[in-house]
Amino acid sequence: MSRTFAMIKPDAVQAGNAGKIIAHLQDAGFRVLGMKLTQISRQQAEKFYEVHAARPFYGELVEFMSSGPSVVLALESDNAVTKWRETIGATDPAEAAEGTIRKLYAESKGKNAVHGSDSDENAAIEIAFFFSGTELVG
Ligand code: CDP
Ligand code: MG
Repeated sequence: MSRTFAMIKPDAVQAGNAGKIIAHLQDAGFRVLGMKLTQISRQQAEKFYEVHAARPFYGELVEFMSSGPSVVLALESDNAVTKWRETIGATDPAEAAEGTIRKLYAESKGKNAVHGSDSDENAAIEIAFFFSGTELVG
């Protein structure tokens, strides 16, 4: 078993799709180890997406991610990182496969409903960014 970090972004929470996305991820075989509703601050969004700081969409991304509540989740499954990336689909919903969360719920490449870690190393960093050890179930 391994872990990944997931986020239901402000667009999907605002649209009332958080419950459906949680049901979807449980049906896909993920176990929720930690979950909370939180409005990410501007500073947290800047730090979380630091790797994209030089990209033209960074300002808009930080603005969007701190614009309303998100649901942050620590998930467990076999090959959690890869499996979650497959479950959410491509960054741009226009390119996401049928049945993926982004295909079902994303509005656009920027407002794309969910986040998923891209490596085991980043999954651990991102889980620790939002959860203390005692906030995760064993
Ligand atoms: O989220 P993912 O790992 O699929 O994509 P990314 O390349 O790591 O980009 C992070 C986030 O930046 C995306 O999920 C989008 O919300 C946003 N983004 C954007 O607004 N415009 C782009 N051209 C690329 C990414
Ligand atoms: Mg990424």
